Order: sequence, then structure tokens, then C-alpha cells
Amino acid sequence: MQQTDFLVIGSGIAGLTYALKVANQFPDKKVLVMTKAAADETNTKYAQGGIAVVNDLENDSFQKHINDTLIAGDGLCNENVVEIVVKEGPERVQEIIDWGAKFDKEKDGDYKRGKEGGHSEFRILHHKDVTGKEMERALIDAVAKQKNIEFIKHCFVVDIITQHHLGYLVNKATPDVECYGVYVLNLETNKIEKILAKITLLATGGNGQVYRTTTNPSIATGDGVAMVYRAKGRIENMEFIQFHPTALYEPGVRGQAFLITEAVRGDGGILRNKNGEPFMEKYDDRKDLAPRDIVARAIDSEMKRTGTEHVWLDCRHFTKEKFTEHFPNIYAKCLSIGIDITQHMIPVAPAAHYSCGGIKTDEWGRSSIHNLYACGECASTGLHGANRLASNSLLEAMVFAHRCFMDSVAKISESSNSPLHKWRGVGGEVPDWNAKGTTEPKEMILITQSLKELQLVMSDYVGIVRNDVRLQRAMRRLDLLWEETEQLYESSSVSPQLLELRNMITVGYLIVKGASFRKESRGLHYNTDYPGKSNLVQNIVL
Ligand code: FAD
Ligand code: SIN
Repeated sequence: MQQTDFLVIGSGIAGLTYALKVANQFPDKKVLVMTKAAADETNTKYAQGGIAVVNDLENDSFQKHINDTLIAGDGLCNENVVEIVVKEGPERVQEIIDWGAKFDKEKDGDYKRGKEGGHSEFRILHHKDVTGKEMERALIDAVAKQKNIEFIKHCFVVDIITQHHLGYLVNKATPDVECYGVYVLNLETNKIEKILAKITLLATGGNGQVYRTTTNPSIATGDGVAMVYRAKGRIENMEFIQFHPTALYEPGVRGQAFLITEAVRGDGGILRNKNGEPFMEKYDDRKDLAPRDIVARAIDSEMKRTGTEHVWLDCRHFTKEKFTEHFPNIYAKCLSIGIDITQHMIPVAPAAHYSCGGIKTDEWGRSSIHNLYACGECASTGLHGANRLASNSLLEAMVFAHRCFMDSVAKISESSNSPLHKWRGVGGEVPDWNAKGTTEPKEMILITQSLKELQLVMSDYVGIVRNDVRLQRAMRRLDLLWEETEQLYESSSVSPQLLELRNMITVGYLIVKGASFRKESRGLHYNTDYPGKSNLVQNIVL
């Protein structure tokens, strides 16, 4: 058993920003960061377009960024949170610059600013087309210098420890569920250990892997959301899954799809259908730079109308020099599969990209479970509402990591006798993980096949366009997958694959449940049985 002051689960932008801040504030306290994979294997590393921030008040304004965010969010954003993120954003971006992240600059030393769908101004700071890789690098370098941070890789967090593990009844109506730490599967020893913490932050990222095609890496399995749901915490707005309009279409490639950043359209790339016709003007006045939900639905509709599996992104009017100056990584990737973007159009199709909902938090990042914060993509702060504005998530992660830090400072300084800090007392009572009666799973195919089924069900029935019959079918199939997987879980020793499958089925269930409750079409949720918006503007909390 380990004990720590601060426990941070996840090593993307949200987790590492928070870890750096608390470690710096409390040099005598211990900060433990855990990740289930390599240090930088995160959604953060794959971010391309950049970070939306107002830092040119001559040509842009906070109000314009606020308005763009609210318009994309389609009536469901928390206006207070939008204002917080937009206005606190510049200070947070300056911090990561001070930690060493580099953003591209013009010759005169001013930042280069890109534009993406739904933005009324050029405000996206970027590092070529590998912004996330650069930010993650800077964070990992800064963490390495911080002596009181212990960084443990390849440790899979299984569950949050609450009173439930001490034998108390905990259900959704229990008012004071408390987090005492986590159970974690050490992937080197294959043993489950317990870690007790005064304060835990979940920064476990997104859940794109629930779908067959996604821009997300394999770590994005919604573990944090599933853990909080099991621990009887509040989960919100899971139906709002953002499909990125332009993932590279590569027939036969499974798993993570390579992204063609929206910034390519920001710089003038044009979507064309099978017949080479530009089509976005039929769908929205903002054409190729309409918000993502509109562009993704338009592409889906063109693909269905013309019977193809992709549309084209035309960049042939770019010179090689102009394209590679901003998008060297995309140029190289396309060339590696025989596409010279100055001569050939790029085949693209929508792919699951971002989860707008998640663990419900307040404006300080507090979840509904005491001593448990959530931030980054796993959290639902109220910023995105029904649809996230492009490049707002890196910003949100940094602003909320700071807010979680501010609140943690106050909390950790509270008397250790406070009822919320019983952890010292309960430490000895938290039982070890009980693996009695379980055996090694005999057939891996029971897990891999269920995962394929889950991804098919979610993609075919709970994708860009939904209806009630599809949602009902999806729920019935998920019920069966759930039952079979629980049987396996009860009888097998746990493995990351089994734990992820279990978490992804839970996340799938929450997406379908949210989608079924929402009897309207709003933002990213489009149900052909209810094509209009309801007068009842509500978040769906599960
Ligand atoms: P992540 O960076 O995903 O980190 C999650 C961490 O949690 C990982 O370390 C993971 O290993 C760990 N973890 C998860 N489960 C467990 C567990 N059970 N046990 C232990 N560890 C666990 N947003 C923008 O604003 N601008 C962009 O340009 C942009 N481009 C994008 C491009 C791509 C291809 C993708 C996929 C996303 C993009 N996004 C972009 C979204 C943005 O990158 C993410 O929302 C953001 O990086 C999420 O950061 P995070 O810290 O919340 O999670
Ligand atoms: C992109 O670069 O198109 C992705 C930006 C984002 O997801 O915010």
C-alpha cells in the first residue's frame, strides 16, 4: 500500500499541468502521477490544430471567443464557465510557454494564428501541425525537473476507493461519497495494489475507442468516466460525441485514424464529393468552416447520397512550400501512402474524436465525490455544451487544471481531522483487492470479439445520425455484452484488455442512455425522429 498527498491519474495536458502546480506549491508534499501506458501516450500528444486563445486584443476580443463557443454549444453551455475559460485562458497559455512550449511565430515575432470551424477570428496558436506533441514534451520535461513528483507508468487504475469498500452501502442517493484513493493494476507485477490519497485528480482523457473509427489513440477508453459511474458519482451529457469531419480514409486500417486538422480548411482546403463538386455551400453559409457537427453531418449525407466511404479534401491549389510550412506532418503522412497533396485530393471521412460530456464537475473541477477532482476531456465542466468549438479543449484542460489546483490548495490545508480527511483513519481498513476464485482467462477471443461487437454497435446505431429504433437496438446488444463481460470479470483475473472492455461497455451504455433521454436534435446529437430542438433546455445527468 502506498500513501500520497496528491494522486494524479493521467499524464496528458490536464494531469501534468495540475501535477506541476501542486508540486511547485507544496515542495514538501508528495505528488504521484500514474498512467496506464507510456508517459506521453495520450490524446494530448496527437493534437494538431492548436489552442484557441485571445491574445491579440487589437483584432480579437474575449466577447467574440465567448460568442463563438456559445454558438457551437447550441444552447447548453454554462455561460459562466465559458467566460471563465476564455478570460483565464491567456494566463494559462503564457504559463505553458514559460514551461518551454513553443508556438509558431511570424517574422516580426508575433504569434502565427490559425482559424478553424466556428471561429470568427484567427486565434489558434499552434506548433506546425504537431501542437499537442510540443505541449506534451514541454510538460514532461518540466515534470522531470520537479523532485516531489513520482511518475509511475504502465499502471492501470481499476477503481476509486470509497466507503463502499469499507462495507457501507453507497448508492446514487448517498450524500457524502468520499474518495480515499484507488486500486491499481501494476502491469509489471500483474498484482492489484491500493494507493491512498488525500486528494485524487482524474485526468483520464476521452473515449473515442468505443467507436470503430476514431482519431483517438488506444488509451482513450473512458476509464475515468466508468470508474466514477461505478462509484455512484454524477456523469453528464454523454450523448454529445464529436465526430471530426476529416480523418484520413485508409481502407483496411483499423484503430486510430490519422487526423487531417481542420486548420487545413482554415487555410483554404476545400471539401468535394465523389464527383469533385464542392458541397458545403448547400449545407451552411460558413461552408467548409461551419462548426464540426454541421460539416460532419454534411459529409455523412454526401457519402450516403453518392454511395461512397469518403469524400475528398482538395489542397491541390497549395504550393508544397506553403503547405509544408504549416502542415509538414500531414504532408509526410500523405506522401507515405502515395498521396502528393499538390496533385491528388486527400480521401477523408468523419471519425469519433471528442467526448463533450463526462464526469460532472463544478467551476472548481470538483466532482460529486468528495476529494475527487476531474479535469480535461474526462470532465464535463459546462464549457462545451452540445458541441465543442475547435481547439477549445487544450485551453479548457489548462484552465481547469489551474482551478482544481487552487481548490486543492484550500482543501489540503483544511484540518486533517475534518470529516473529509478520514483517510488516515480508514487507511488500515481498506481491504486488499480480492481476487479469490478467479483464474486466468482461457480465451482472449472472448474479449477481442466483444470489443469489435461493441464498436460496431456504437458506430452503426449511435453515430452521427441516430433514431429511436437504432438506440433501442444498441441498448439491447449492450445489455448482452454487459452480462457476458461481467461473468468474465467475476471469474477471471483482471487484465487491461478486460478492464478496458468493461469500461467501454459502461461508457457505451451511458452514451446510449443519454441519447435515448434526449428527445430532440441539438448540437452533436441528431435524432431523425426528433429533428428539431426541444423547448426544454437541459443537461442529462446520469
Ligand atoms: P489525455 O491527453 O488523453 O491523457 C489521458 C491520460 O490518462 C493518459 O496518460 C492515459 O494513459 C491515462 N489513463 C486513462 N485511463 C487510465 C487508467 N485506467 N489508469 C491509468 N491511466 C489512465 N484539442 C484542441 O484543443 N486542439 C487540437 O488541435 C486538438 N487536436 C486533436 C487531435 C487529435 C488527433 C485528438 C485525438 C484530439 C485532439 N484534441 C484537440 C483534443 C485534445 O487533444 C484532448 O481533448 C486533450 O488533449 C485531452 O487531454 P487530457 O489530459 O484530458 O487527456
Ligand atoms: C484539429 O486540429 O482539427 C482538431 C482540433 C480540435 O479537436 O480541437
